[in-house]
Amino acid sequence: MTQPTSEPPSSQTIERLTREAVDELSKLGTYEELETWRVAYLGRRGRLTLLLRGLSGLDIDERRLVGSLANEAKGTLEQNLERRSAEIDGAELATSASQDKLDVTLPGRTTPVGRLHPTTQIVREICGVFSDLGFSVVEGPEVEWDHYNFEMLNIPRGHPARDMWNTLWVDYQNEAGEQPMLLRTHTSPMQARVMESSRPPIRVVVPGKCYRYEATDATHEWHFYQVEGLAVDEGITFADLKGTLYEFARRLFGEDRKVRFRCDYFPFVEPGVDMSIDCFACEGEGDGCRICRDSGWIEIMGAGMVHPKVLAGVGYDPEKYTGFAFGLGPERIAMLKYGIEDIRLFYANDLRFLRQF
Ligand code: DAH
Repeated sequence: MTQPTSEPPSSQTIERLTREAVDELSKLGTYEELETWRVAYLGRRGRLTLLLRGLSGLDIDERRLVGSLANEAKGTLEQNLERRSAEIDGAELATSASQDKLDVTLPGRTTPVGRLHPTTQIVREICGVFSDLGFSVVEGPEVEWDHYNFEMLNIPRGHPARDMWNTLWVDYQNEAGEQPMLLRTHTSPMQARVMESSRPPIRVVVPGKCYRYEATDATHEWHFYQVEGLAVDEGITFADLKGTLYEFARRLFGEDRKVRFRCDYFPFVEPGVDMSIDCFACEGEGDGCRICRDSGWIEIMGAGMVHPKVLAGVGYDPEKYTGFAFGLGPERIAMLKYGIEDIRLFYANDLRFLRQF
């Protein structure tokens, strides 16, 4: 049992103790000092606590009177403690603001927000159009076998058509001393991979990176993207090819676009074509136009009816199934759409260029 103070509690002792305590408190400047003060007056063995305990020695009327004064004193001390603590808070902030040169009015730093690379944007736009037309989007390996990149596309070893693709071979040789592995020169190898792993009806587009052993200039990069397309089913005709690609051109380049197909040669299609749109810059006028170089037409992709040998190569009966394929370069599409004059800008990592998209 704690000993009560020797002095019996009275209204005077309470008043004196309150005055002393409040006076002392006003001189304190740190949280540690406040805590010592709190323990000294309001703690378990604090002066006011002990005084309250001494009330039991008083007679009933006095106890009531002095008791209520003591409780009031306790409230006063607690309020004063809270106020002093708030004052110290403010003072500390002011000190740290002046000493640490903390400028609380300085606006926050904005977090840089990234954006999609222009190639990613255009690839998504292109795939979006074909996906609206019922095509699924699939991807394939960037390091490819000679088998898929050439053989299965009707370009056998020693065939002059191999010269159409300047190839980066991977340093790997099989027992026959052949180099059967390369960085894919186009996304067309996915034609055979998709046909092997599924059955018609097939409708896919294949976006992805390609590589060529290329001297770079404003229109040639050694790595770039392609979007390949393939549709195979019973009864697909050249009219389906034209209709699909015409719709694609209108959605990407505007309702009024005209398209033109001309014969071209790709070993994996027969007939093969190149597709052009009428120039959106000069509306096909041509006269002095830099975009279409006076011709009024802009080539945007290669396409054709899947060669019977390609179908037969994956075990499809070319008498039963037909299909069309196409391949386009998204960077070229972006260059046309946004008036970019040098393909090397895409991968030069110059933020001044990239931030414009
Ligand atoms: N793979 C061809 C290239 O890289 C582009 C191409 C042309 C793809 C015609 C096709 C096609 O599917 O039918 O030059």
